[in-house]
Amino acid sequence: MIPRPHRIREIRRDTNDTYTFDLVPADDGPPMSFAPGQFNMIYVAGVGEVPISISGDPLEPRATVHTVRAVGSVTRVMCALKPGAIVGLRGPFGTAWPVREAYGSDVIVVAGGIGLAPIRPAIYHLFSYRDNYGKLAILYGARTPRDLLFRRELEKWRSRFDVDVDITVDSPGEDWYGKVGVVTNLIPRAHVDPMETVALICGPEVMIRFTVIALRDRGVAPENIYVSLERNMKCGVGLCGHCQCGPEFICKDGPVFPFSRVERYLKVREL
Ligand SMILES: Cc1cc2nc3c(=O)[nH]c(=O)nc-3n(C[C@H](O)[C@H](O)[C@H](O)COP(=O)(O)OP(=O)(O)OC[C@H]3O[C@@H](n4cnc5c(N)ncnc54)[C@H](O)[C@@H]3O)c2cc1C
Ligand code: FES
Repeated sequence: MIPRPHRIREIRRDTNDTYTFDLVPADDGPPMSFAPGQFNMIYVAGVGEVPISISGDPLEPRATVHTVRAVGSVTRVMCALKPGAIVGLRGPFGTAWPVREAYGSDVIVVAGGIGLAPIRPAIYHLFSYRDNYGKLAILYGARTPRDLLFRRELEKWRSRFDVDVDITVDSPGEDWYGKVGVVTNLIPRAHVDPMETVALICGPEVMIRFTVIALRDRGVAPENIYVSLERNMKCGVGLCGHCQCGPEFICKDGPVFPFSRVERYLKVREL
């Protein structure tokens, strides 16, 4: 339960309000290992603690990578920190994307907005073990082109021949020549065999709900659809009940769940 001090080694600005941090143990001790989908509780001195998913490559543990959107008191202060500053990490906590269980299957990743960050470690795993999967599709949607995360990396992924990467924005700017519309519009044409597909979804809850409907319409089996959920958290380890949804603790039983297990709680913002 005691946060381990980490030094900010590098900060990259992803969008207007979103930054990616490389964190290393302040005592130069061994780095944290984690499974794709897990999160840390990040403590910012004098302000508080927030759950943030790990967004880096699980096979590159030289730094613990987090992508943070400045939305409130803790995240705004964190996004104003400079390299060299110290934050505390507790974790990693929570369940993982079923990347090993999906060996032998096609995989479709559907991400919305900052939801690409928590799912990026699963994408790294899919690429590192590419031969273990059938077809791969990554569908990503953001509000505007300026809200797209990891733009250079998206271009790199798009240039690969072994993955179908499709991107759309709700509102295009003048410099956007790509697709326009919600991310669910991309599902009918994704290059996967629905009967053999495992789906990983991360984004706002309304996007999750419509994505699941579109995937089911295409014939993806409900038991093969996984989602990552967010709820306000305090302890992160199943003690305080802050994140509880019915019998499920999002911090400990999630954040990654089979959709069928949490479908009925998705409309509940806070209990
Ligand atoms: C398991 C898990 C993983 C998460 N992973 C990430 C991640 O990788 N990157 C990331 O940036 N965030 C992530 N979050 C969300 C993040 O924890 C919250 O944005 C953060 O707790 C907000 O804390 P704050 O003190 O900055 O804002 P607060 O002061 O608590 O909130 C201020 C205002 O922001 C609003 N707000 C709070 N959260 C959000 C939100 N997510 N989106 C929009 N408005 C919000 C509140 O309703 C309030 O109006 C994750 C949450 C969970 C549960
Ligand atoms: S955050 Fe305390 S039980 Fe989940």
